[in-house]
Amino acid sequence: MAEVRAMCAIGLRGQLGHEGGMPWEGRHEPAFAADVARFFEATFGHVLLVGPRTKRSIPQWAYADRVIVEIRSSDPPEDVLAAFPSRVVYVGGGPAVWAAYAPYIQHWDITRLPYDGEADRWFDPAWLTIGRAS
Ligand SMILES: NC(=O)c1ccc[n+]([C@@H]2O[C@H](COP(=O)([O-])OP(=O)(O)OC[C@H]3O[C@@H](n4cnc5c(N)ncnc54)[C@H](OP(=O)(O)O)[C@@H]3O)[C@@H](O)[C@H]2O)c1
Repeated sequence: MAEVRAMCAIGLRGQLGHEGGMPWEGRHEPAFAADVARFFEATFGHVLLVGPRTKRSIPQWAYADRVIVEIRSSDPPEDVLAAFPSRVVYVGGGPAVWAAYAPYIQHWDITRLPYDGEADRWFDPAWLTIGRAS
C-alpha cells in the first residue's frame, strides 16, 4: 500500500483557493515563496494526485521530477492508490479530493500563511478526524 500524505497551505481562517488559484497569488513575501519551494521539495520524486482544476496550475517543469496524476470523481480512491504500491503519494487537492482521500491520509503537512483575505475554497478540519479506511 502506498504511503499517503497530504500537503496544503491555508490562510489564517482556512482559506485554500480563490478563482481557480491560490488566494494569495501574486504575493512574493518570504513566507509565500518558501511555501511554494517546500511543496516542490517535498513532492520531489513522488506521486502527486490532483483534481483537474488544481492540475491546471502546475507548471510544466514540475512534471520532470514527480509523477503527476489527474484524478476524477469516477476513480475510486482505493483503485488509484493501489496503482502505486510502495510509493509515497501526495494528495494535492482541491477540497473534494481531500474529502474523498482523507480516510487514507496518514500524514498531513499544513502551513498557515499570513493571509486573511477572500477565498472560495476552504480547508475542512473534519478531514483530519474522518477515521480510517477499512
Ligand atoms: N492552498 C493549497 O494548498 C491548495 C492546493 C491545491 C489546490 N488549491 C486550490 O483549490 C482550488 C482548486 O480546487 P477545486 O476543488 O476547485 O478543483 P479540483 O482541483 O479540480 O478538485 C476537485 C475536483 O476533483 C475531482 N475529483 C477527483 N477525484 C475525486 C473524488 N474521489 N471525489 C470527488 N471529486 C474528485 C472532481 O472533479 P470531477 O467530478 O470532474 O472528476 C472535483 O470536482 C484552486 O483555487 C486551487 O488554487 C489550493
